[in-house]
Amino acid sequence: MPTASFAARRGQLETYFDRTASAAWIALTSDVKVSGVRATVRAGRDRMRETLLSWLPDDLTGQSVLDCGCGTGALAIACAARGATVTAIDVAPNLIAIAQSRSAETPAAARIDFRVGDMLSPTLGAFDHIVLMDSLIHYELGDVVDALAALRARARASILFTIAPRTPALALMHVAGRLFPKADRAPAIVPIAPDRLAGAIAQDRRLDGFALARQTRIASGFYTSQAIELAPA
Ligand SMILES: C[S@@+](CC[C@H](N)C(=O)[O-])C[C@H]1O[C@@H](n2cnc3c(N)ncnc32)[C@H](O)[C@@H]1O
Repeated sequence: MPTASFAARRGQLETYFDRTASAAWIALTSDVKVSGVRATVRAGRDRMRETLLSWLPDDLTGQSVLDCGCGTGALAIACAARGATVTAIDVAPNLIAIAQSRSAETPAAARIDFRVGDMLSPTLGAFDHIVLMDSLIHYELGDVVDALAALRARARASILFTIAPRTPALALMHVAGRLFPKADRAPAIVPIAPDRLAGAIAQDRRLDGFALARQTRIASGFYTSQAIELAPA
């Protein structure tokens, strides 16, 4: 059962990604021209996706991947192209519709099962790799650790995820973000101190058997995100 804070935040994210910012998100994840600030975010996100993909085996034939909060589907499509069987789930139905139409030209996309729903649903089953690119960045530390613990029971080889690392520069940017009119704002990103997360993971018995492995921070203009690998110890 998700906590009340997880469920409340998931509801806000559904509204935001499915309605408020759906068009902006679809544009950001396409190759149409965007403003300078968004172009830096797009470039950072492209690097982040490449980083996460580089941590997966080159040949994913016979392996299963769960793409949690898949958005418009770029990572899921790349995994399928490498041979994986993919379940790609997002709480925003609009984004899943875009992901399906963007994947239509890719024969490998026949191996992608697109779903609308909660990425933590236990009915999704178990996977070799579970990837959450920027899907946990809006959740509080406790909810992030709970999510990782729930997914750990369903991951065989790795969980790859990202956090918005708490740094002084990022804190300033979030203050600046609050100057924008409320209606234009995304649900707040929750910066998390990497050391606090590492401590919480090490102490959580539900995560026994898995440990932090590779980590890389990517900073590009207004985009700063830290990729983290959780893998069998
Ligand atoms: C910042 S976007 C990233 C999308 C995609 N992973 C990417 O990098 O392009 C976060 C996505 O996570 C989805 N999301 C957040 N919480 C979720 C949940 N509990 N279950 C399913 N999707 C969720 C949102 O709807 C949104 O599409």
